[in-house]
Order: sequence, then structure tokens, then C-alpha cells
Amino acid sequence: MPEYHKPVLVNEIISLLDPREGGVFLDGTLGGGGHSEAILERIGSDGILIGIDRDPEAIEYAGQRLKRFGESVRLVRANFRDLGSVLESLGVGELDGALFDLGVSSHQLDAERGFSFSRDEELDMRMNPAEGTASAADIVNIYSEQNLADLIWRYGEERYSRRIAKAIVERRGAGRITRTGELAEIVVSAIPAKNRWQQDIHPATRTFQAIRIVVNRELEAVEEGVPAAIEALKIGGRVAVISFHSLEDRIVKNTFRRYAGHCECPPRLPECRCGAKKVLEVVTKKPVIPSADEIRDNPRSRSSRLRVGQKIA
Ligand SMILES: C[S@@+](CC[C@H](N)C(=O)[O-])C[C@H]1O[C@@H](n2cnc3c(N)ncnc32)[C@H](O)[C@@H]1O
Repeated sequence: MPEYHKPVLVNEIISLLDPREGGVFLDGTLGGGGHSEAILERIGSDGILIGIDRDPEAIEYAGQRLKRFGESVRLVRANFRDLGSVLESLGVGELDGALFDLGVSSHQLDAERGFSFSRDEELDMRMNPAEGTASAADIVNIYSEQNLADLIWRYGEERYSRRIAKAIVERRGAGRITRTGELAEIVVSAIPAKNRWQQDIHPATRTFQAIRIVVNRELEAVEEGVPAAIEALKIGGRVAVISFHSLEDRIVKNTFRRYAGHCECPPRLPECRCGAKKVLEVVTKKPVIPSADEIRDNPRSRSSRLRVGQKIA
């Protein structure tokens, strides 16, 4: 089979999640099943691996790849933000470990599904087109200039968000924008030439990231899915989250802090009233990053950061 996605930080995940014989593990972002396979090799035939992905192509591919593990594999096409109901429908009570490897797979980037600014494709970006939600083209052609500027700023951290939004609205006056190539060209021309390339990053990267996050409601899913996984862990169980940009990483870090009992009351209150309880021990005081060898071997691992927490109460 052609390579669907090269998983990142596999050794680190296995050593920190430490899957044992007979364990029940969740892979909330199945993708090509690389991490799942590594977990399945350790939990043996008495273990259970629940693999979730919202993309039907991931379920199809990983299903083939993991066939040899038979009854130990339970794959579900769903959004991991609905984790509670997925576990309930499978009759699974508690987890020994959970993994989220956020973002998109290499297959999604390469498969002409409208995520890529380096090729000219139909502007779509939906991880599951069957969900019937707005595509990237809908957003680019319907949102007001103000809303476009806000989303490009907020989810892309793009300093030229206003210029880019203005350029998009001007161009769509001449007809609907439907191709990634056209959007990339509009973004590039809206950024002053001397500031276009920063640290070898394509000038359309941040705008494409912002639109993708909105199309797939990615941050809302992390805000709901990671807490749901923590709730479902057994005492002693671990949750591992790999993120690829600071917006995701900030949500993971804050979620861990909240479950680690960090009080969120305003400092002026004489005592804690938010009910902060220490449920989680943060295992990775700093995020784990890939080795130089891994980055050389797999440049897409470059921006990955792994955080792990252990349920203690
Ligand atoms: C980086 S890839 C995971 C790769 C995987 N770890 C592997 O070893 O091949 C991320 C996957 O998560 C899926 N995904 C992203 N957000 C999701 C969500 N909210 N619910 C379910 N799946 C999601 C994507 O469709 C994609 O297949």
C-alpha cells in the first residue's frame, strides 16, 4: 500500500503511554493507523484499540492495515468531540490510555482535497465532506471582509489579515473563488514582497491554516475531546496529545492545567471558589519535540509538540 501518513514521535508515544497486554486504548485521530498499529503490537489479542477518525478514507485505509489484529480493533467514523457517546455506543467504560495526533494527515494534504496551496485544486478542506458543512470556498466567498480578517488573524496569527481579507473580497467581485491556486495567489500578492517568506514558510500557510481550522471547527473539537478523554481514563491512565501549532498547544496546555488543579479564580478572592481539583499529573513539564534525526527523516514532524498527563484521582 502507498504510505498514507508517517506517524510522528512514535517511540516517545509508546514510552510515555506504555501500553500493556490487555489494555484498552483510544486513538482519537486514527489517520493511516501508524500509532494505532504500534499500540496494538503491545496490547496483544486481549487488548482493545478504539480508533476514531472523521474522515471516511482514514477508516477505510486503517481498517485494511489493522485487519491482522482482528477483534482487538474497533474503528468508528466520528468526530472525537463526541467521544463520550462513541464510548457509550461501544460499551467501553474506562480507558488505560488515549492519544490525539491533531491536524491533518499527509494523505489529506496530498489527495487533492483542497488543503494544499502548492497545487491548484478545488478549494474544499473538509475532513469529512459528507458532514455537509461549509467548505473553504463557501467561507471565502460568503464571509464579510471583517469576518475574514478576524478569522485569518485569530486562527492564522497572520499580521496581514486585513490586507488579505480586502484582496479576497475585491477578487470575488469578479466571480466565485473556487481553486486553491487562486486563493494562494491572492494571499501572496496581498503581503508586501519583502515580508512574504519567513523562515522558509510559504506566505499562504497561515491563511490556509486559519480557513482549515474554521472549516473543520478544529479547536472546538480539541476543547471538548481532550477533557472527555481525561474523564474516561482509569486512575493511572495517560492521555497524550500531539499538536502542530500554538493555538492547539495552548488549549492542550490549559486543559491539562485545569485538570491539574490550577485555580482559575480571580486573584482578589480570599479563597478558591472555582472548585479546582487535582485530577491529572502533568507528565511532560515541557512539551516533547522530535529529534533532529526524525525531523531530517520526516520534515512534517518539525512543528510537532507532545504533552502527556496521567490521571491521579
Ligand atoms: C495527523 S493525522 C493522524 C495520523 C495518525 N496518528 C497516523 O499514525 O497515521 C490526523 C487525523 O485526525 C483526523 N481528525 C482531525 N480532527 C478530528 C476530529 N475532530 N475528530 C476525528 N478525527 C479527526 C484527521 O481526519 C486525520 O486523519
